[in-house]
Amino acid sequence: MAHFEEIGGNFPVVLGMNSEVVNSEDTADLNQYFSSGRSAILATIIHSRAQGKKVALPYFTCHSVIESFVRMGCEIKFYPIQKDLKVQEDLIIQFCQVEQPYLFFYHDYFGLNEELKWSKIFDVCSGQQLFVNDKTHSFFSASTHSSAHYTLMSIRKWGGISEGGCLQINGMKGLDIQYDIRPDNDFRMEIYNKASELKREFLQGDPSINKEQFRSLFYQSESFFDSETGIYPIRLEALQQWRALLRSPFAQRRKLNLDLLVQGWNPDWEGWGIPIFMNNRDVVPLYFPILLKIQRSLLQSFLASHGVYAPIIWPKSILITQEGDDSFYNQLLCIPIDQRYGEKDMNRILSLFEAFDKMMKG
Ligand SMILES: Cc1ncc(COP(=O)(O)O)c(C=O)c1O
Repeated sequence: MAHFEEIGGNFPVVLGMNSEVVNSEDTADLNQYFSSGRSAILATIIHSRAQGKKVALPYFTCHSVIESFVRMGCEIKFYPIQKDLKVQEDLIIQFCQVEQPYLFFYHDYFGLNEELKWSKIFDVCSGQQLFVNDKTHSFFSASTHSSAHYTLMSIRKWGGISEGGCLQINGMKGLDIQYDIRPDNDFRMEIYNKASELKREFLQGDPSINKEQFRSLFYQSESFFDSETGIYPIRLEALQQWRALLRSPFAQRRKLNLDLLVQGWNPDWEGWGIPIFMNNRDVVPLYFPILLKIQRSLLQSFLASHGVYAPIIWPKSILITQEGDDSFYNQLLCIPIDQRYGEKDMNRILSLFEAFDKMMKG
């Protein structure tokens, strides 16, 4: 059967993962698992008694993070993010001293891990503030350690895992957080599995499958998370997928893919975009983010017309009412380089950049 050469789009469940025999009780694992990153955030808010209190969130973050704090009645103060997405210790310390948030939440963007800088900030501020590190993007980067009071992540975002989030408090085991009971009409996993099966068959060239069939199912499966209001446990099937993923060589694949794009990147292309990761060897990335100098849709639609679907991470949430620098919301485009892809795909992306550059230069 022909292979459909598409890059990007939803992750189907990875085949073979489910058959792994994994004990659900792994005593070395300090995480408490939830159905989603949102569930883990809600659990953090409850455990830290942050309901109704002032919290600091980065100006560049995703809607579902903000919504979780809004849902728990928190007063949100957004703090600014540097142009290179890295941490400026003095600015964060100054922000904490002026605003005195009860809880300070931060991301390691796209795999960046700046543990050393954060530990300097904790030295000054952790008597006053509780720090929460969202490692959704960075769990697999050089140092997985975090000295934040709470470390959490959405594990379902990394691919092939049908649901999941986790939380750890400062290296301690046993959070003892109460789970809610899932609603009876929760068919999300079945829908996700069906969508995955259809996408796989489509990618293998099955002509009877129309893209919209699996797209709408993936969409429905996402909507379950959007309507989720409780704190639910992860299902065993998803935990098994996660543990199997941890044993697979996907981190190396992502690093290799990043290296291929970094090495193949032509500085002449910087007329239209600046990649964020050129000098970061420690990153295990999910994407190759480019900050565009031109209208973002020009590159995004050019790539899509050649079967490469580059997402926007993140669209600006309607819950952000504070003024701030919107460059990341307006100009960042993320090129998929995850474990589904290899050298041939990265070369294809580089050829598309080259062709786009020629087109831009007329
Ligand atoms: C960085 C980050 N943290 C947390 C979440 C929430 O995770 P979930 O969608 O699994 O609830 C997301 C979702 O996009 C995210 O990108």
